[in-house]
Amino acid sequence: MKGIILAGGAGSRLYPLTLVASKQLQPVYDKPMVYYPLTTLIEGGIREFCLISTPQDLPRFRQLLGDGSAWGLSIEYREQAKPAGIAQAFLIAESFIGTDAVTLILGDNIFYGGDGFTRAFGESTGGATIFGYHVNDPERYGVVEFDGEGRAISIEEKPKAPKSNYAVPGLYVYDNAVVGIAKALQPSARGELEITAVNVEYLRREQLRVCRLERGFAWLDAGTSSSLHEASAYVQTIEKRQGIKLGCPEEAAFRSGFLSLAQLETLAGRIPQCEYRDYLTALVAETRRLKSL
Ligand code: G1P
Repeated sequence: MKGIILAGGAGSRLYPLTLVASKQLQPVYDKPMVYYPLTTLIEGGIREFCLISTPQDLPRFRQLLGDGSAWGLSIEYREQAKPAGIAQAFLIAESFIGTDAVTLILGDNIFYGGDGFTRAFGESTGGATIFGYHVNDPERYGVVEFDGEGRAISIEEKPKAPKSNYAVPGLYVYDNAVVGIAKALQPSARGELEITAVNVEYLRREQLRVCRLERGFAWLDAGTSSSLHEASAYVQTIEKRQGIKLGCPEEAAFRSGFLSLAQLETLAGRIPQCEYRDYLTALVAETRRLKSL
């Protein structure tokens, strides 16, 4: 399974924050936003990534994440010159995807909670898997409608009169057919290759699985000043209360077996003295203690 992180867009709703750094590089509490979706995919067992962004922002992502090898990953970079829709990512990353299945995550989507979720996309076999999440304002999103038996029967992009409160979050798991489906798409009225059109095609082929995310699961998008602030407050609340970090790629890479304990320790040792380093050092010490029991 390959992973695509789409971190494009002008970030105009966050102006002037986005004058010098893109939306997905803004802090969400104590880390850059892109750490969260990257961590989500690592937790799902994905190791090979392609990050897509604008020509101006790509150098900054490279500076932040490098080629991924320090974390036991590989990260390639591709340009999306103009924001021509989420589904364009499959055309831009066609050679990266090759003959594999692929998970696409949006660089401003933050997910937290439930192993069931990571399993649902980590173990998907064939067709497409997307999610449904109950929200207050479905008209801002792709909206999925279910029948009495819980089967998805329609998906609409930003409908004026939503048929349900279930929004489709920005995490999509597809088999390799997605590349051909994306190639056949026509731009929508807003001039974009819509991800919803891809999902509608899988639905038509009867190959779409929609998993409803349970109560208590958190899906946040951080695309406006106020949702960015709320996401930071949420992360701070959980981290302070539980003493665990959300969106920590080093920890996720270690837990997914991409980094050994010794490698994690070396990595932690290279971080300047700060709370992030203390966290990783404590994780190493706790793992050693548990091993010695
Ligand atoms: C996009 C998708 C939409 C999805 C949302 C999730 O919306 O088009 O279907 O529900 O991401 O964040 P956009 O970010 O383009 O408003």
